[in-house]
Amino acid sequence: MTAAPPARHPAVGSPGDTAELYRRHLGSGRAVMGTVLGGMVETYSEGAWVHTDDGRRYLDFGGYGVFILGHRHPAVVEAVHRQLDAHPLATRVFLEPVAARAAAALASRTPAGLDHVHFVNSGAEATEAGLKLARAHRRNALVTTVSGYHGKTLGALSATANTTYQAPFEPLLPDTAQVAYGDLAELEAALAERRDRACVILEPVQGEGGVRVPPPGYLAEAARLCRAHGAFLIVDEVQTGLGRLGTWWGVDAEGVVPDVLLVGKGLSGGVVPVAAMVATKDAYRPFSRDPYLHTSTFGASPIACAAALAAVETMDREDIVGRAASLGRRLLAGVLEACVPYRDRLVREVRGRGLLIGIEFTEAQAVGETLLELVARGVLVNHSLNSTRVLRLTPPAIAGPDESGLFLTALAEALRAVRARLG
Ligand SMILES: Cc1ncc(COP(=O)(O)O)c(C=O)c1O
Repeated sequence: MTAAPPARHPAVGSPGDTAELYRRHLGSGRAVMGTVLGGMVETYSEGAWVHTDDGRRYLDFGGYGVFILGHRHPAVVEAVHRQLDAHPLATRVFLEPVAARAAAALASRTPAGLDHVHFVNSGAEATEAGLKLARAHRRNALVTTVSGYHGKTLGALSATANTTYQAPFEPLLPDTAQVAYGDLAELEAALAERRDRACVILEPVQGEGGVRVPPPGYLAEAARLCRAHGAFLIVDEVQTGLGRLGTWWGVDAEGVVPDVLLVGKGLSGGVVPVAAMVATKDAYRPFSRDPYLHTSTFGASPIACAAALAAVETMDREDIVGRAASLGRRLLAGVLEACVPYRDRLVREVRGRGLLIGIEFTEAQAVGETLLELVARGVLVNHSLNSTRVLRLTPPAIAGPDESGLFLTALAEALRAVRARLG
């Protein structure tokens, strides 16, 4: 066991001080949001729990999909501490063993053929690396899916299909088409128009798009169409990968090997931000040949790679994939049951795979209301950035039966309260 939370975090004054500093320096919108959610100030985390400075703790079934291993998994913390005491950042002149070992560990878990790893610091950077690699192969026309989410840097934003985030920054990348997610005919038409010059980017299940699960066979057929039309295929597993869907990767279910697989979120082990673009040998050739073609000072830092290596090893050692699958089945059944009394009056649909579960409400207001009711009951979940009516659950695979029980009780109470309020 790690130590109990410190009585008072040294960085914290009063919650009001923190909100005021947010307002003055980080942004008034974020300050208002924090205040609406109760003004709590988080200072400590461990496993499935996040602690606030006022001594309360919250069950984290959100975390935007990061915490498949929970917060501060001890094995990851230990590896990161060791690296911190030895060599956290590299010169980038000599070879560095931790990045090499982390790349080998990750490649040993990705589908056969995806052997080349480019570490970055965020999911959006992984998308950028994938899009640039496609361009290095002259695949300059981008085909994305409606409601797809791939990050918010300029290139990634061109692929993130949400006008709220795109409009203020237009023009974005030219020659970009959006096709309906799950619709193979639309994909084929878009590819036929862009023969030998398209880059397709899609998720195995749309996370921010509102936990949209495609029809069976979609990924495999999309991959076949890409091959047939000479398109470069990027599968974005930033949210779905590393056990989130109850399999190592979303592509596993259909035996798909894309040109590029994007990894992020859980790769951090809940400790240090790190993401990666994993490519086949052919796809990776331009980056392999010229190591300065696409770089970032902090990319593949030893401290981040120590976290990534420990996270991948922990996934194996603790059978995180198996646990995600079985916990996911139980939770989905529990959520479905909790929603039965509200079917069609408050809840339109419950769907998910593994530990990515969405509750689609009949109206957007219910998402915020349910989220607040859950916070009041000590539970954190997320909305979906590209789907206003969907509440998203991304619990950690390390959650135990007490924690699932607590969540389901809180959900049942929250739904009852929201139903009573919204009528
Ligand atoms: C599928 C997917 N791709 C990319 C990203 C962007 O990752 P980041 O927020 O780390 O830049 C996200 C983030 O939610 C995501 O869900």
